[in-house]
Amino acid sequence: MSNTDIEVAHNYHEQTKHSYRSIRSDTHSLDFSNRPVPFKTYPGLKPIPLPNPWEDIEITALSAVSAVTSPTKEERIPSLNDLARLLYYSAGIIRQRNYPGGTLMFRAASCTGALYEVELYVVCGDLPELPAGIYHFSPKDFALYQLREGDYRAVVAQASGEEPHVVAAPVLVLSTGTYWRNAWKYRARTYRHFGWDNGTIVAHLLAMGSALQLPTQVVLGFVDKELNQLLDLDIQREVTLSIVSVGTTTQKASAPSTKVEVLELPTLPLSEREVDYPEMRTLHSATALLSEKEVTRWQGQTSIQPLPAPQGPVWKLDPDPERAPDSIEKVIRRRGSSRQFEQTPISLQEFSTLLYCSAQGISADFLEPAGVLLNDWYLIVNAVEDLPSGAYVLHREGWLLELLKEGDFRNEAGFLGLEQRLPADASANVFFLADLEAILKQLGNRGYRAAQLEAGILGGKLYLTAYAQRLGATGLTFYDDAVVEFFSPHAKGKSAIFLMALGHGQKGLS
Ligand SMILES: Cc1cc2nc3c(=O)[nH]c(=O)nc-3n(C[C@H](O)[C@H](O)[C@H](O)COP(=O)(O)O)c2cc1C
Repeated sequence: MSNTDIEVAHNYHEQTKHSYRSIRSDTHSLDFSNRPVPFKTYPGLKPIPLPNPWEDIEITALSAVSAVTSPTKEERIPSLNDLARLLYYSAGIIRQRNYPGGTLMFRAASCTGALYEVELYVVCGDLPELPAGIYHFSPKDFALYQLREGDYRAVVAQASGEEPHVVAAPVLVLSTGTYWRNAWKYRARTYRHFGWDNGTIVAHLLAMGSALQLPTQVVLGFVDKELNQLLDLDIQREVTLSIVSVGTTTQKASAPSTKVEVLELPTLPLSEREVDYPEMRTLHSATALLSEKEVTRWQGQTSIQPLPAPQGPVWKLDPDPERAPDSIEKVIRRRGSSRQFEQTPISLQEFSTLLYCSAQGISADFLEPAGVLLNDWYLIVNAVEDLPSGAYVLHREGWLLELLKEGDFRNEAGFLGLEQRLPADASANVFFLADLEAILKQLGNRGYRAAQLEAGILGGKLYLTAYAQRLGATGLTFYDDAVVEFFSPHAKGKSAIFLMALGHGQKGLS
């Protein structure tokens, strides 16, 4: 099986679709006595506490989310404080809530079911207050755990086919996904969640990188096996999802003097027993890139068909990226998924700012040239001032909203969002749809990972641009084919990837 056997991704996508019928015939129930713990624990390692607290950087959230910090010739090496901020505001615990069964610890970035299956690892050269090494980030005690001592950046650089940002980075943040932690609830659909839940974290990493003036790049082209070995992962359970390079340095890593040895560090079990969903591992191996040569071939121009020119009435967006003064940290601290939306309208400027600032600021190896996206933005507008209610598509070229059909679609939005109240009551919903056929043809099965990750990043950005403006947001799941049908004929042939609801929200008690 290889990256070019794209039937594998097609089949997985097809088999994990939600529909009105599949939900009704589903007999799965949650076994709370076997709920996995949301933390990875290495009992044999000592914590290296991270510094905390710090002053806010006072860069506004809207500018941090929408900007890309371009690579410079100057050294941009994060301090330990910077690294601590990056990790805390991406995957740290920002809120706790007691409930009869225990305490739920909510993280900076949203995650399906608050199950937190994405782990972060840091691969770095010598930093001012941290020796070169590979570290696992532990949100529970806000600490790093050293897995390997020494500078292993060259191993990551080699695995990425010497991707220039990776080669020049003093710090690399690697994300992994742990199947069972999310599959406990979502079963085989978890592989989609890897992209979404990693995406929200990556959105925070990019925003914090930009606020700290540290250039970042998302890298999805790497030899999987090499990074899985480097992080000492048991690949039946946990796999590397992405690299985010952070900063720039001229102190290139030289190849480590020792071989990457097998460590097999003991970790605590997540729950009494685990249920395996082999279809996810099958898909994952079919998305793997096997050699540096394959990685280099995989990277390059993204050839995405542009949307057809607008045929219907259009509205020009009226964004104001200066309209919200709160710092990125302040916004992340108050973020939380809306548990209820008021049916009141948001202004066209709020809405425009949401879309405009969220659709920018991703620099990634699978998005070349800069600005291109794999996902298209389809919308149901329920209540936005000066905009007729209806279904729209966003033309990022010219920042135009094209009306596809006018009408009150609150009921339809609720239905499409898996019959939940949230999308029906929201002021607007953004449905990310992608031409999977074309993406898989170009990028192979790995393109499936790219499309899901990109949608998660965009979702993460929408959360932040909503909370920056004191609005609410939540990610949502959906009835796959019904979404495409609703937006057809315009969306015919595309696939539903992710859904975000936006409006005047209440976070609930979390
Ligand atoms: C990709 C994604 C999909 C989600 N889907 C739903 C959903 O279908 N229904 C829902 O009520 N919440 C949904 N949520 C919200 C999560 O339940 C929420 O993020 C999680 O409980 C953590 O809480 P927080 O976002 O307030 O930190 C989703 C979140 C994400 C990131």
